[in-house]
Amino acid sequence: MNPEAAPTPIAASRPGTSPTEKAPPFDAHAQARVLVVDDEQVIREILSDFLLMEGYQVLTAENGRVALDVLAHHAVHLVLSDLKMPEMGGLELLEGIRDRYPEVVTLIMTGYGTVETAIEAMKRGAFDYVLKPFKVEEVVHTVRRGLEQQRLRAENIELRAALSLYQLAARLGDEPDLARTLRLVVATVLEQTNADRVSVILLPDDDVRWEGASSGHGEPITEHDLAEAALGLHGSVLANQGRAFRFLRGSDCTAPVTSLLMTPLTGRHKLLGLLVAVRHGGRPFIEGDRKLMTIIADRAAAAVHNAQLFETQERTFRHTIEALVTTLEEKDRYTAGHSARVAEFAEITARQMGLDEEFVQLIHQSGRLHDLGKIKLRTEELNKPGPLTPEEYERFKMHPVYGEELLGPIPSFRDVLPGVWGHHERFDGNGYPRGIGGDNIPLMARIMAVADSYDAMTSHRAYRTALTHGYAIGELVRCSGTQFDPTCVDAFLVAIETWRAVRSVAGESYPQ
Ligand SMILES: [Fe+2]
Repeated sequence: MNPEAAPTPIAASRPGTSPTEKAPPFDAHAQARVLVVDDEQVIREILSDFLLMEGYQVLTAENGRVALDVLAHHAVHLVLSDLKMPEMGGLELLEGIRDRYPEVVTLIMTGYGTVETAIEAMKRGAFDYVLKPFKVEEVVHTVRRGLEQQRLRAENIELRAALSLYQLAARLGDEPDLARTLRLVVATVLEQTNADRVSVILLPDDDVRWEGASSGHGEPITEHDLAEAALGLHGSVLANQGRAFRFLRGSDCTAPVTSLLMTPLTGRHKLLGLLVAVRHGGRPFIEGDRKLMTIIADRAAAAVHNAQLFETQERTFRHTIEALVTTLEEKDRYTAGHSARVAEFAEITARQMGLDEEFVQLIHQSGRLHDLGKIKLRTEELNKPGPLTPEEYERFKMHPVYGEELLGPIPSFRDVLPGVWGHHERFDGNGYPRGIGGDNIPLMARIMAVADSYDAMTSHRAYRTALTHGYAIGELVRCSGTQFDPTCVDAFLVAIETWRAVRSVAGESYPQ
């Protein structure tokens, strides 16, 4: 019987194996590999023999130091170790394993009279202990139990990973808001890894500054706490104790960190940022936590990438609106500021009507753009002091259509179009360009009509000076139900008084 024939020499005779050689990743479902650590060769032989017969792969080491060296180069599921050994005993070995290989199950063998030490070993993370002299069957049984518990733990982690990924994917959906996306990712990692603190840190992107989100106890980890090595990460890392500080800078904020998980968020081959989870004391993270965070990070990176794209698109959208409106207002000096005021009046009316915030934002954008089609009219006609000729008026009536033609082909303007083409429609169906009435006119357009008319009356025009607030309100009331939707007029009447009161208190001008 020579159980050590194959595996043992790896451990015993090559303690200084090349440091570049790394242990393969831990896999709870692979054939179980047991490391027997005892300074007595006969015990190593007996245990190896029985464990091999049970179908396990076996490695051996004669003390704690050699055992750590074996662990550095081989994926091991369970370590069965003596307590008293030269060079490095079992307790010290346990600590090394707990810090560096927390997923490895440890069993302690000890002689009679040292039960206290065995209990101490369990406090340091040992799964169980067996007393010497032992029955080999008893040891094998305990090994089996330890491995079973490890397998269940791994399955539990995999199940949690699948579940959390499903939940995250469902909650993220097509979430366009970057801040909300980041908060969701952080909350999921915090919940799934039981970390003390989780941060997601996005790298600066062109003109966008550092941003991120953080949740948990203690100070948030921010970009200032990252060491240079963190920015060069290609895969996720699990680092405990001092090794965590290869990726973190030492600071008051990082000082309590005893265990670190760090995963790059990569989108389209570009490093978008880092997902960082830390524990302050207690059980270190295990390999399963690292895998779980890697899976979450994959999904998160895609969501962050999308949200960033969406934000860029939004910015471009807003800049485009500003540029278009500025161009129009330079051309039509009498409507300078008109678009901004109509946007504001439409917004306060929509709010007064209890419409949702998304609609309120859209109607504001629509207000900015509602007269954009005038850009196609002749400048001299726009600024004409007298009445328009019938031909000029026909051309003027085309501006809602021109606006729709200009903006229609751009998908991001789609939702603001009703306010553009429909703001001259009348509730009684006598408006233009479509001549539709009642609820056939989109709500956005019905509100816009009221806001537009109020501002047209209360501001200076090429053909007349501004009319008073009282006169304009009288006209809106008079035309409620014919030109205007009464519901929109009623909401406007309330909203405009509040608006005027606020302007008055703030010392800002408003129609008198
Ligand atoms: Fe108009």
